[in-house]
Amino acid sequence: MVKCVSSMLIILALAGCATTQQSLYDELGGKQTIAAIVDNFITEIQYDAEILPYFEGSDIARFRDKLEEQLCDVADGPCDYTGDTMAQVHAGMAITEHDFNLTVDLLINAMTQAGVPHRVQNKLLARLAPMRKDMLYK
Ligand code: HEM
Repeated sequence: MVKCVSSMLIILALAGCATTQQSLYDELGGKQTIAAIVDNFITEIQYDAEILPYFEGSDIARFRDKLEEQLCDVADGPCDYTGDTMAQVHAGMAITEHDFNLTVDLLINAMTQAGVPHRVQNKLLARLAPMRKDMLYK
């Protein structure tokens, strides 16, 4: 009887683990939602007079491709980021704190438009936050 109860507890514990093991990639809605976030983000940038000038002369197809890859990778999805480091990419742009925060607001708009719940948005932002120091005033 004791053995039976303990077996049941183990099964219940494993079932509990299975439900909490969903990756952030899955919570976001996978490849399709990430593609929608990046598309919305690019549109937001196009309409923002302060941020758009940073992208003058940029290869937007590459930006789309690498950002999708990076978001998939940081969310533990089935991708490996193959772009340049955040320090390399943003070097020489002299990004101010104001413009950085503005860009994050555009990303938040992009996620909201893609139907990502705020709780999940915050998880993704928390994973991107450590990169901030590689981009500001460089
Ligand atoms: C959480 C913040 C950010 C993330 C995760 C991010 C991520 C990326 C990624 C993945 C790329 C493409 C890398 C590659 O081509 O190898 C990129 C490019 C770029 N980013 Fe960011 N970025 C962020 C913030 C910013 C900010 C604040 C600005 C300017 C205000 C900015 C301006 C640019 C520009 C202009 C490019 C294109 C560079 C080029 O054409 O070579 N980024 N970013």
